[in-house]
Amino acid sequence: MSRTLFVTTALPYANGSFHIGHIMEYIQADIWVRSMRMAGHTVHFVGADDAHGAPIMLRAEKEGITPRELVARYAAERPQYLDGFHIRFDHWHSTDSPENVALSQDIYRALKAEGLIETRPIEQFYDPVKGMFLADRYIKGECPKCHAKDQYGDSCEVCGAVYSPTELIKPYSALTGAEPVLKTSEHFFFKLSDPRCVAFLQDWTTGANAAGNKRLQAEVLAKTREWLGAQDGQAKLGDWDISRDAPYFGIEIPDAPGKYFYVWLDAPVGYLASLKAYCQKAGLDFDALLDPAGPTEQVHFIGKDIIYFHALFWPAMLKFAGRKTPDQLNVHGFITVSGEKMSKSRGTGISPLRYLELGMNAEWLRYYIAAKLNARVEDLDFNPDDFVARVNSDLVGKYVNIASRAANFIARHFEGKLAYAGDAAALGQELAQAAEAMRRDLQAREYGRAIREAMGLADRVNQAFDAAQPWVLAKGIANAGQAQKDQLQDICSRALAGFKALSVMLAPVLPQLAERVARELFGMDRGFVWRDAGELPTQVAPFKHLMQRVEPAMLDALFEPPAQEQASAPAPGGEPIAPVIGIDDFARVDLRIARIVDCQHVEGSTKLLRLTLDVGEGRHRNVFSGIKSAYQPQDLVGKLTVMVANLAPRKMKFGVSEGMVLAASHADEKTDAGIYVLEPFPGAQPGMRVR
Ligand code: MSP
Ligand code: ZN
Repeated sequence: MSRTLFVTTALPYANGSFHIGHIMEYIQADIWVRSMRMAGHTVHFVGADDAHGAPIMLRAEKEGITPRELVARYAAERPQYLDGFHIRFDHWHSTDSPENVALSQDIYRALKAEGLIETRPIEQFYDPVKGMFLADRYIKGECPKCHAKDQYGDSCEVCGAVYSPTELIKPYSALTGAEPVLKTSEHFFFKLSDPRCVAFLQDWTTGANAAGNKRLQAEVLAKTREWLGAQDGQAKLGDWDISRDAPYFGIEIPDAPGKYFYVWLDAPVGYLASLKAYCQKAGLDFDALLDPAGPTEQVHFIGKDIIYFHALFWPAMLKFAGRKTPDQLNVHGFITVSGEKMSKSRGTGISPLRYLELGMNAEWLRYYIAAKLNARVEDLDFNPDDFVARVNSDLVGKYVNIASRAANFIARHFEGKLAYAGDAAALGQELAQAAEAMRRDLQAREYGRAIREAMGLADRVNQAFDAAQPWVLAKGIANAGQAQKDQLQDICSRALAGFKALSVMLAPVLPQLAERVARELFGMDRGFVWRDAGELPTQVAPFKHLMQRVEPAMLDALFEPPAQEQASAPAPGGEPIAPVIGIDDFARVDLRIARIVDCQHVEGSTKLLRLTLDVGEGRHRNVFSGIKSAYQPQDLVGKLTVMVANLAPRKMKFGVSEGMVLAASHADEKTDAGIYVLEPFPGAQPGMRVR
């Protein structure tokens, strides 16, 4: 039976570029969507930028631009990532859109009419200089437990204590340094503690959707049971504070001047806003599509950090606004890089854009991620050596190579014609079965198992081909009898039928490669669908090169930072001066005099030198620097230089770099006079601060 699916991924905050975690989520969802479409289901797949909230407002203010300008800057770069990794949303929208304003306000009004909105005065810290209420993360002070200085308003990074901002000793605003004052303001609450909400959520979280699939994975269900107090029958759900006071970048609350929706209220509504804008574009009926009694299944792909919002707030909001509720929540773990967590603020070990700029094939990454994903909420590690091994020995070695080996014989000796001896129907059935197993695994989001399924078939095809030794049969084939010719043609045809089935199976993961195989090798006028797997091909075009191997050097380059951070468009004769900063912005950078006590080449790296630095701390630091083109290690040993001493440590392929050495260069170091490491005037001592 054909299904209609409305599929989304989490809406990324619009104050940063995509990182590898975002790309991983989109690849997971894109593979699922493609696989469902290949089975004949109708899928509407949308995304959007999450544009609102205090961090975006404050970032824009700092840069001297409007929040909308900031959001537009990141929106403009989205397509190169999405296109680059073959991620095909039907539509990409923004929560800062007329559709989202209308839908968010509608939903709010409906909840209010249900008696589920309440107002209450709240006493909260307020920055009198900035004229703004302060969220916990904008308040700092001394930890009430261990007295560590400069801790955030909700917890201490030193001793781990959790507290409320009012318990901080000598609190100050992280925005202005001013002493915050307590001030009262009226807040709006969504009454999640209402027995109707609790009862609904008990039911929704444990239930199944129309297709009989569980809405939540077991681990996710367990979490919601905890939150809902299912064990002791005592619901622990508090009411949800959904309002923020001006100044705020967000959507105004109807009939409440100066009050805005908290960003997490309008963010998921952005799923609907994006679908609505898409429906307008595509001539679809939005209301019919999301009819609560209709057949559409609503599926959200999200990461494990935002379960609370999607498993509790969001379904309850929709339910009591009289709308369709989600049918399935697909939660994934986090991607780590070489075993290291990546932080949202510090970014990651590998940049998706750099991956593309290095000319690395997007489908290698899609394949690798698929091979490591399963349907559980497990983290997944990007490991460079594992990446090279899986792509080269499995993807290229086992799958792509079948085509080159078999197609050449067919082109040379049989004018591209395929023919099967013996029971061809059994072969078709075997291939159809393998594809069906893979389709089921993909549908269940067991991608790793699905890839193993495909590689198992690839092994069987290769083994049969090798065992039959076609290269022996091909010797002197021109003068051979018909039986030998038939045998050679049969062996190669079976291998190519296997290759075709594998291409169908891998099509959701490798859409570009599969499309080329369908059109260029098998002469089809469309891409593959699942049922093509068991159809034995009757002809094949001469083999064209399909996919390169990964060069391990590419991984080295991926893990190295560019020699110097590049300005996007350097002006002739030099790079434009960066936006103005205040003295306190500068003071956050801790520059120190460092002695280079040792310097070594880095094996396998064309750009880096490994420096051992003494910054007067009683220990040495390891720092990698992209200055190999300009210096020999012995030129540097014993010299003094300047380093950024409080840069977050960065995990690189060759080890952890604990800071950065300062060097001068033009933006494009290839076309200019090189790189120059800074050296202080005589008399400076290691450990002195540079200000
Ligand atoms: N704006 C909210 C989501 C609103 S949805 C209505 C948000 N944005 S985010 O940019 O921080 O994260 C977007 C998605 O990326 C989330 O699903 C998050 O879990 C996912 N990831 C962020 N870091 C990740 C990894 N390291 N690995 C995998 N996914 C990760 O949260
Ligand atoms: Zn503490």
